[in-house]
Amino acid sequence: MKKIIVTGGAGFIGGNFVHYMLKKYSDYKIICLDCLTYAGNLETLEIVLDNPNFRFVKADITDREAVFKLFEEEHPDMVVNFAAESHVDRSIENPGIFLKTNILGTQTLMDACRRFGIERYHQVSTDEVYGDLPLDRPDLFFTEETPIHTSSPYSASKASADLLVGAYYRTYGLPVTISRCSNNYGPYHFPEKLIPLMIINALHNKPLPAYGKGENVRDWLYVEDHCKAIDLIIHKGTVGEVYNIGGHNEKTNIEIVKIILKELGKSEELITYVTDRKGHDLRYAIDPTKIHNELGWLPETKFEDGIKKTIRWYLNNKGWWEKIISGEYKNYYEKMYVDK
Ligand code: NAD
Ligand code: TYD
Repeated sequence: MKKIIVTGGAGFIGGNFVHYMLKKYSDYKIICLDCLTYAGNLETLEIVLDNPNFRFVKADITDREAVFKLFEEEHPDMVVNFAAESHVDRSIENPGIFLKTNILGTQTLMDACRRFGIERYHQVSTDEVYGDLPLDRPDLFFTEETPIHTSSPYSASKASADLLVGAYYRTYGLPVTISRCSNNYGPYHFPEKLIPLMIINALHNKPLPAYGKGENVRDWLYVEDHCKAIDLIIHKGTVGEVYNIGGHNEKTNIEIVKIILKELGKSEELITYVTDRKGHDLRYAIDPTKIHNELGWLPETKFEDGIKKTIRWYLNNKGWWEKIISGEYKNYYEKMYVDK
């Protein structure tokens, strides 16, 4: 039996990863370490809370004592670090918490790995560490050799963490890997991000706020394909290496918004152009050749299918996001753990 600590497992991608791993490996123990910030929602994990192969621990990755205590109790074989402040707009308003969680939290986890020993520490990073590409050069893509060149406090904090992970590999020989993925979409995506926000606003016939001219390009990947890539990297990837993950699925924001409106049978008149994001990255586009050649990874879900599945999920799981919008989800932990 392998034991994996998954940090940030009550969030969007971490939650999907927990479900994916528990389903795939019946002999693994998955320990979710998450402090349940506004973006963490225990209801995302509701269906596995009673699974004997799963444990939830409410703790902050920057809390050295709590992290070391958990390592002492569990002696994990691997750590996959999803925990982060992840929203660019929030990082523009309040960078401090991004630096604390994303950089110092990474340090704390790696210090615990050094202290107790680990088979693999995996850092879940982002394509945003490469900055952006111009809109008029569709021939350009981010490779693992593209220089780090960040735009937002969020991407700067993620890039700093990546550099620290590289330093722990070189200096202490910590067995690390890093993945840099493009924008994800799918179930359990927090409704402040583009796709869930637009789905929910459209359902409520509320304005759909497109930043600037809506012409910025993102490279969208279905979240399960990201989970599969991380699974491959932690089991078969080479220690010390960085792997880019993306599915060559570039779309402008306005294309995304129009696809959602069409699927829901709503009018494009709901689209409202609003003030652009400060420092707004123009285009992200991943070259996934390395992970394809070395590990055989390819995205499996086509965008046309993935977006339909995602919209259906939001329609069938109104309870999940309505509680988030009302703020009620924050009481769930108290109900599940504290009041018992
Ligand atoms: P998210 O905001 O949905 O979830 C983050 C989770 O981390 C939440 O459950 C939150 O409670 C937890 N967390 C935050 N601070 C913590 C702390 N100090 N201690 C413990 N837990 C803490 O984020 P996401 O979209 O699922 O992203 C997960 C990871 O993937 C992040 O590292 C992000 O940078 C990276 N990533 C995201 C995308 C994307 O499109 N969403 C793309 C590439 C990479
Ligand atoms: P987001 O989901 O915040 O992801 P990221 O900034 O990490 O790529 O935003 C995706 C794109 O959508 C980005 O170009 C900003 C844009 N956007 C809007 O136009 N309106 C919105 O309300 C939001 C949240 C994002």
